Amino acid sequence: MKKIILTMAFALGVASISKAQTKIPPAVQKLLQKNTCLACHNPDNRLVGPAYKEVMKQKKYKPEEIVELIYKPNPKNWPGYPPMAAMSQVPKEEAAIIAKWISSLK
Ligand code: HEC
Repeated sequence: MKKIILTMAFALGVASISKAQTKIPPAVQKLLQKNTCLACHNPDNRLVGPAYKEVMKQKKYKPEEIVELIYKPNPKNWPGYPPMAAMSQVPKEEAAIIAKWISSLK
């Protein structure tokens, strides 16, 4: 009996972890905030733009491709969303760090 309860507690624990919100590493969070990405994007949920996880699920981008899309978005990739404005003000190093993190999401 004890074993069954333990197994169930474990299963519930795993289920709640897999539903948990994505933890953004502090260094990345800072850049997402500074460059206003978070106003329109959440890792897990649709806001103005698609969830970063959804982007990776559908497109499986490499980091370089994401950097390019920050500077030159392609709204045709996301029907049903307003177009994202090109963000040429984002410094290259910061875009690279953000892109590397987005591309790591599953
Ligand atoms: C004003 C709202 C807004 C801001 C700010 C914004 N985005 Fe977006 N983003 C969108 C919308 C809407 C889409 C979907 C339509 C499109 O791609 O044009 C999108 C799409 C994307 C995509 C998918 C691109 C593709 O073609 O598949 C990525 C990656 C992305 N954004 C990253 C970022 C990053 C990183 C930042 C910050 C540097 C950022 N966005 C800032 C609204 C925004």
